[in-house]
Amino acid sequence: MDFKQKVVELLKPELDLPVEKIAALIERPKNDSMGDYAFPAFILAKQLKKNPAMIASELAPKLQDEAFSKVEAVGPYVNFFINHEMLVADTLKTVLTEKGDYGQVHASLGNVPIDMSSPNIAKPMSMGHLRSTVIGNSLSKIYAKVGYKPIKINYLGDYGTQFGKLIVAYKKWGNEDDVKKDPINNLFKYYVRFHQEAEENPELDDEGRLWFKKLEEGDPEATELWQWFRSVSLEEFKRIYDELGVTFDSYNGEAFFNDKMDPVIQELKDKHLLTESRGAQVVELGEDENPALIVKSDGTSIYLTRDLAAAEWRMNEYNFKKILYVVGNEQAEHFKQLKKVLKKMGHDWADDIYHVPFGLITQGGKKLSTRKGNVVFLDQVLKEAVSLAKEQIETKNPSLANKDQVAHDVGVGAVIFHDLKNDRLDNFDFDLAEVVRFEGDTGPYVQYTNARAQSILRKVGDVTSDSLALSDEWAFSVAKEISYFPQVVEKAAERFEPSVIAKYALSLAKKFNKYYANVRILDEDDQLGARIALVKAVSIVLTEALDLLGVKAPSEM
Ligand code: ARG
Repeated sequence: MDFKQKVVELLKPELDLPVEKIAALIERPKNDSMGDYAFPAFILAKQLKKNPAMIASELAPKLQDEAFSKVEAVGPYVNFFINHEMLVADTLKTVLTEKGDYGQVHASLGNVPIDMSSPNIAKPMSMGHLRSTVIGNSLSKIYAKVGYKPIKINYLGDYGTQFGKLIVAYKKWGNEDDVKKDPINNLFKYYVRFHQEAEENPELDDEGRLWFKKLEEGDPEATELWQWFRSVSLEEFKRIYDELGVTFDSYNGEAFFNDKMDPVIQELKDKHLLTESRGAQVVELGEDENPALIVKSDGTSIYLTRDLAAAEWRMNEYNFKKILYVVGNEQAEHFKQLKKVLKKMGHDWADDIYHVPFGLITQGGKKLSTRKGNVVFLDQVLKEAVSLAKEQIETKNPSLANKDQVAHDVGVGAVIFHDLKNDRLDNFDFDLAEVVRFEGDTGPYVQYTNARAQSILRKVGDVTSDSLALSDEWAFSVAKEISYFPQVVEKAAERFEPSVIAKYALSLAKKFNKYYANVRILDEDDQLGARIALVKAVSIVLTEALDLLGVKAPSEM
């Protein structure tokens, strides 16, 4: 039941106002002693030429209803107190009927492509790419829940002049076996060496340019090498995606858009937006803004131009309602320019482009550097998290059946949850032992709470009850939290903020643990069925919340 709606219905016959107006007037008192909803009667004072307290006390008796245990006038307000038993019964019934569908918006609101992860070929995946992967994946689930169709796009950095350099470096210092053994680290090593040697020996740069030109012209050797670098890198990235349980709907990266830029440049020309500036072609964006660089003075196109082509292509292909770019905050200027140029081209849908930035992960307060090979670092972090989780399981539940699978779900889940529990723009420090703790604000704590609920359910078997009313305050606080879930998901979607879900999962887990500590759930009395229904509902919602974060919910741990 929608209790706020009920308040509106009760007030309607008494007021000469449209329902939307009434709904907008209803407040949520800060203090529980003032009830769950309040109607500010002073709004009517002028119209009725009466004192507000008087209006409130005349209204209150006419608004009595079984949905509210008390409706009373306090000063100029009418306060409504929700009938607790009714809220509990109502909420549990809804969740047990809808199950995993609870909170699902049944609508087709349209496509939402999510540009996420997008690491660069032949370079280690950074912690930034990891954050983008995990945040993007969660947002895709949240958007599906509120009625959109998400499309996860991995816009691989697989094109650019650096590939000419890499080909030269590989031909000079590389060998096939090393690349096969440890592709990204070795390719990256050649690339770094290229830059070092090019400082002494600038002809190397000319060679790099030459090979890039060959690549652009479709030279077979250049193309074959490039394809090979791309595929071995991708294999390595995919290993990490598998660990994290993340899949993509498209791997159309920068290379895919390489032959789609000319029409965009032509369009810019036709619309008289391109101007020349020191040999380069730019779009002027106004006095206080840097011009957007479209074609460099040497004729090569750049990152922004490819993103323009990609945005147009995606609009044609997906006819999106919104498009999200989950990319670090340091690219804010780039996405601002992308939107502005598209807007100048007359594309109103530029307003539906959202850059979803995020903060840095530090370790011991220091920024992590790509040079140190973070893909290894990341692999290692996940492995260590899994083994720490395994240790904890060994001490807590040594007889558990599928320990390795559970340790994987807990360890990896801990890393993901830790990434998502803070507001995405906050920087945070990474301390592995902290991440995988079973207590405190961690993923394992939520998973453990859910497993505890499921173990209760296994113990009692199938108990059902017609009445789901429970009158204790702990049950009420759990059920009330559960009743917020649909609006919590909406809020997370609106703000592009998975942390809203993570914080909610922690809060529900805490409330359930209080319930568990204060109520004898398994007592054989006539409310056993209702208490079991509450445990079921908690488990359904915790499992669903974890799923929205991309975290598994083992039934035992
Ligand atoms: N490959 C880029 C990087 O690592 C991120 C790409 C983000 N997406 C985009 N459409 N520009 O910095």
